[in-house]
Amino acid sequence: MTGSAPVDPTSTEAWRQLSRIAEGFSPDLRGWFDADPERAARYTFSAADLTVDLSKGLVTEEILQHLLQLAKDTDVAGRFQAMISGEHINVTEDRAVLHTALRRPPHAEGLVPAAGFTVDGQDVDADVQATLDKVFAFAEQVRSAAWTGVTGKRISTVVNIGIGGSDLGPVMVYEALKPYVQPGLEARFVSNIDPADIYEKTADLDPETTLFIVASKTFGTLETLTNARLARQWLWERLSASGSIDDSDDARNAAVAKHFVAVSTALDKVAAFGIDPENAFGFWDWVGGRYSVDSAIGTSVVIAIGPDNWRAFLSGFHAMDEHVRTTPLEQNVPVLMGLLNVWYSNFLGAQSHAVLPYTQYLHRFPAYLQQLTMESNGKSVRWDGSPVTTDTGEVFWGEPGTNGQHAFYQLIHQGTRLIPADFIAVANPPHALADNTGDGGAVQPGQDVHALFLANFFAQTKALAFGKTADEVRAEGTAESVVPARVFSGNRPTASILAPSLTPSVVGQLIALYEHIVFTEGTIWGIDSFDQWGVELGKQLALQIAPAVNGDQAALDAQDSSTKSLIAKYLELRQ
Ligand code: F6P
Repeated sequence: MTGSAPVDPTSTEAWRQLSRIAEGFSPDLRGWFDADPERAARYTFSAADLTVDLSKGLVTEEILQHLLQLAKDTDVAGRFQAMISGEHINVTEDRAVLHTALRRPPHAEGLVPAAGFTVDGQDVDADVQATLDKVFAFAEQVRSAAWTGVTGKRISTVVNIGIGGSDLGPVMVYEALKPYVQPGLEARFVSNIDPADIYEKTADLDPETTLFIVASKTFGTLETLTNARLARQWLWERLSASGSIDDSDDARNAAVAKHFVAVSTALDKVAAFGIDPENAFGFWDWVGGRYSVDSAIGTSVVIAIGPDNWRAFLSGFHAMDEHVRTTPLEQNVPVLMGLLNVWYSNFLGAQSHAVLPYTQYLHRFPAYLQQLTMESNGKSVRWDGSPVTTDTGEVFWGEPGTNGQHAFYQLIHQGTRLIPADFIAVANPPHALADNTGDGGAVQPGQDVHALFLANFFAQTKALAFGKTADEVRAEGTAESVVPARVFSGNRPTASILAPSLTPSVVGQLIALYEHIVFTEGTIWGIDSFDQWGVELGKQLALQIAPAVNGDQAALDAQDSSTKSLIAKYLELRQ
């Protein structure tokens, strides 16, 4: 099935019906809620620890039935099964797609596929557990100071050097799980080839207590290898300046051995860089970069939060995987959310999708999702090479609430574009603070600040759904001339996701939720959500252009006139 032509979703009866409904569609969330007291209950679902209310979405039973039929016509469930079983559903790279195998509990009964399954001759579970054990053992050594720097000092800062999937996942999870970080340990993340990044991240560090993790699936990424060399240089220079090492090769190698480890699928290249493969943690080409946060790529976070919390993190992913695998489509949360996204983008004209976490700890989640969603589903051809038959890949974006409220929510509330938005909140904050004095007005002394925060979460989705009519605005005594400006149309779709607390497990659940939303949409569109050829051309050109930027006249002359004049201007400006 994997390389065969995908079903063209636009050829299905379900698509025709949805197109018919979309023509002249006039949503009426006020009316729908009035007419159906069960609407909230009907469209509120559970997935692992998450409660997901889709009732403020632009959905009716009729629409939902056609969307579900579309999922059946395009065999979302069958393709999910193919994915977790190790079929090569990444067709353009001829690879299995097995991130779900990274979080299977060891030695559990009733796993599907059964424990010990093999893919392309590899015992997947055994290899996953062996690597995990190695990462855990190393993390324990660093956490307990059994592993020290070259001068015997305890490691206090771990610097992850990686980019894309080798950065966005670890930094997002580290930020999300800050309350679980061992005191005295800190992680930092260097990704950009802009030298400002590594300069700023290392400026105040003590080389004797710093451990670098070079995280790169391919170990061939320009940004990461350049930063890794800069880090190695920094280490040697600083240690030598303080007299901790001399300038001999032996001393330098010994320093690298204690201050550099690597995560990669290319262990030969790791060794060529000078990192002992003993201090390298592997993974496999069936883990896509943007699906790799729960592989050894997360080593920096394992060190920070510890193996027990990491196991809980993995169990959250697995709980969501099992939800997708075992839950009928009608209650299958990632499938439903993916279907609604298809409805909004393919039928109602939405071009982007906001993700708005009402927990500061998830402040990097939207950035993480940008790679997960857009690198996966920003495609113009289907997995058999034929052109797509409809739009794909919404622009995902967002910021934590309530900051976003004071920035871009205006456009979501009253702009001309439809922007579906996911609101994410947790009931219990790690640090509950009370405002003991209050403001003498609406905020009473002793106000629980998290409650005030979440009042915003509830208020925003309510305002977006139900709006404010002209009559309601007038009833407040508003001058007629400004009534139109103060009307809120409502009918702006949101999903509300509520979790008990931001535990490691819940963070895993949230990531897996979006992985499978992406999967659902990609399957319906018939695209390979696991390759990323679109990022290659720019990388190749950067290497070709580099000599011109360094002043090579022949290379400069070979450029198109715009690029040539821009580089010439740069060279003129550069001191
Ligand atoms: O440029 C895109 C990409 O290939 C991503 O898919 C990947 O996450 C990132 O680069 C980093 O790649 P690597 O882990 O091989 O350094």
